Amino acid sequence: MVKDLIRNGLDAVEEKLHRVVKTDVDVLDEASHHIIGSGGKRFRPRLLFLSYLAAGGDDLDEVVPMAAAVELVHTATLVHDDINDHSLTRRGKITVHARWGRTFALLTGDYLFTKVYEMMAPYGARMNTIMAEATVLLVEGETLQAVAAKSGQIDRETYKKIISRKTASLFRAAAEMGSLVAGADEAVAGHLSEYAHNLGLAFQIVDDVLDIVGDPETMGKPVGADLPQGMGAVALHNGRKVHSGIAEVEADPLQELMGRLRESGAVEVARAEAEEMAQRARKALYRVPPSPARDEMDRLIDQVVRREH
Ligand code: IPE
Ligand code: IPE
Ligand code: MG
Ligand code: MG
Repeated sequence: MVKDLIRNGLDAVEEKLHRVVKTDVDVLDEASHHIIGSGGKRFRPRLLFLSYLAAGGDDLDEVVPMAAAVELVHTATLVHDDINDHSLTRRGKITVHARWGRTFALLTGDYLFTKVYEMMAPYGARMNTIMAEATVLLVEGETLQAVAAKSGQIDRETYKKIISRKTASLFRAAAEMGSLVAGADEAVAGHLSEYAHNLGLAFQIVDDVLDIVGDPETMGKPVGADLPQGMGAVALHNGRKVHSGIAEVEADPLQELMGRLRESGAVEVARAEAEEMAQRARKALYRVPPSPARDEMDRLIDQVVRREH
C-alpha cells in the first residue's frame, strides 16, 4: 500500500520535473532533461513522501511540487558538483559539463535552482525558510569541502561538519517539510527530522566508502573521485589530520592511494560510523507513532547502509 502510494507520488514527481524545466532556450532545455532523465534514486522525494505519510498526511498530491523542488535542489547541486569534481559520468551518463561545457553546466545548475522558487512559492514562509536554510547549508558544506581539498587536509570534525551540511541538511529539510505539511506536531516533526539527519550522514559516509570500494558501473559515476578533494570517509579513520598524499605518489597516484586506503582499515571504521548513524536514525524514528510509512522508513535505513550504488 505505502509502496504503491510512493510509486504513484514519484511518477507524479517525474512528470512535474520534466514539465517545469521546459524552456525555449534549447541548451537549458536539453541539459535539464538530460540530467533529470538520467535517473537517480529519488531518495529525497521518497523521504519527503514517507515523512508526510508517517505524520498522518493522506493526499500525496499536496506535496508533489515540494518533493520535486527538493529533487531539483539536489539535481542542481550535482550539475555544479560534477564541474568542481571534474567528474565525467553521472547516473551512468555523460555529465552536463562534459557534454555542453562548463559555462552551460553552470547556467543549467542555476536554472534548476531558480525553478525551485517557483515550485516552493505556494507553500508559504515557513516551508520556504526551511528549504532556504537547507540550501545555504548545502552550499556551505560544498565550500568547506573545497577548502579542505585545497589544503589537502581534513580531520574527523571537519568531515562531519561537511557531510552534515552538504548532504544531511537536505534530507532533514525533506522530512521536516513533509511532516509539517501533513500537520505533524512539533515533536513528531522533530523526530522525523532527527531521523532524516542521521540517515543523511549515514548515506554520505556510505557514499564515501563506495568511492573507495565501489564499482563505477553499478554506481554510474567515477570512483576515487572524492579522494583528491578531501579524503572523504578516511578522515573518520582517526582523530588526527590525514593528508591525501597525492603529491608524494608518482605512478598512477589514485590507484595506489586507493589500494593503500583499502588496506588501512579506514573502510571498516567508516562503515561502523555509518552503522552508528543508522542506529541514531532508528532511535529517533521509533519515537514516531507506528504506521506502515514508519515501517518503510525503517527499511530505508537498512537500504542506505547496505546500498551498493
Ligand atoms: C549523490 O546523491 C550525492 C550524495 C549526496 C552522495 P545520490 O546518491 O542521492 O544521487 P542520485 O540522485 O541517486 O543520482
Ligand atoms: C555531491 O557530493 C554533492 C552534494 C552532496 C551536495 P559528492 O561529490 O560527495 O558526491 P558524488 O560522489 O559526486 O555523487
Ligand atoms: Mg563533491
Ligand atoms: Mg562529486
